[in-house]
Amino acid sequence: MRELRVIGETVSGEAVAEAVREGLLACPKTLPPWLFYDEQGSALFEKITALPEYYPTRMERELLHRHAREIAAGRDELRPLSVVELGAGSAQKTALLLRALDAEGCGISYLPMDISATALREAEEQLGRDFPQLRLRPVLTDFTCERPMLPIDAEDQRMLLWLGSSAGNFEMEDAVRILRDASTEMREGDFLLLGLDGAPEANGRETDKQISDLLRAYDDAAGVTAAFNRNLLKRMGRELGAEFCVDQFEHEARWNSRTSCVEMHLVSTMAQSVFVRELERWFHFQAGESIHTENSRKFARDEARALVRAAGFSPVKSWHDANGWYGLFLGQRV
Ligand code: AVI
Repeated sequence: MRELRVIGETVSGEAVAEAVREGLLACPKTLPPWLFYDEQGSALFEKITALPEYYPTRMERELLHRHAREIAAGRDELRPLSVVELGAGSAQKTALLLRALDAEGCGISYLPMDISATALREAEEQLGRDFPQLRLRPVLTDFTCERPMLPIDAEDQRMLLWLGSSAGNFEMEDAVRILRDASTEMREGDFLLLGLDGAPEANGRETDKQISDLLRAYDDAAGVTAAFNRNLLKRMGRELGAEFCVDQFEHEARWNSRTSCVEMHLVSTMAQSVFVRELERWFHFQAGESIHTENSRKFARDEARALVRAAGFSPVKSWHDANGWYGLFLGQRV
């Protein structure tokens, strides 16, 4: 297996300690969502994507399956194409698009970027088997803080992908910065494809989605999302010697209509103090006090198009499931 290209720092123990210190001293307490994705958290997230209540992955896969040829139709068949994906993970869904792009013209390079070496290895193994002709160039990087200089030939047309509604886990200004950083070298005719989860009915007339549908997706009956959220406490235990009693924190999903976000919280069921060995300090919790662990923004269609524009692209077309819950948004640099 070839060497992974590494750009910048990957997550260090100090970065975890600093994020936890800052987040637990803040008022209200908060932790950054990237902390979810250690080995256990990434495995739990894979399980979430297969849950009946968690519709985004399923809907996105269906949309890619149904519209891949149309998305691919815009490419210049006479030029090689480089497809760059932010947070590609194991790239299972992307294979549908790559297959269609591959059928449309000459040479495809695929540059999946991720913070997880395991996920990139999986992508490499699977895609290498399914597409022996694909030029695979996995990049291990934290694209949220590095401006990636990518090994792309100057004459290639480019397509930047950010799928899975992952942009919704960032503040809008950060999502725009990440997209702009990743597309600095893109030129006229290059593409951006975003997969974004839609806002519920209250925020627009285009969908019949209810807030209860959203909350179910983030608080499933089997308790996988609760385990994913609580894994943060376990991770702090493993890596920082934090003495959390995991069942003294409840998983909660809340809808915030002001920010159009599903929020995830860990709520302390009692007044308690927790010692974190690596940080050499106690952290105090009131009964009912929460640690805010994630925002998952839901986009009205005009907000999704505004994000495409803010990233420096012109909206070309969008595709949605029959009920308008989820969307793929294509933009092109003009
Ligand atoms: C990765 N991200 C887009 C997921 C989401 O829906 O915001 C993370 C997640 N959190 C709970 N369930 C899934």
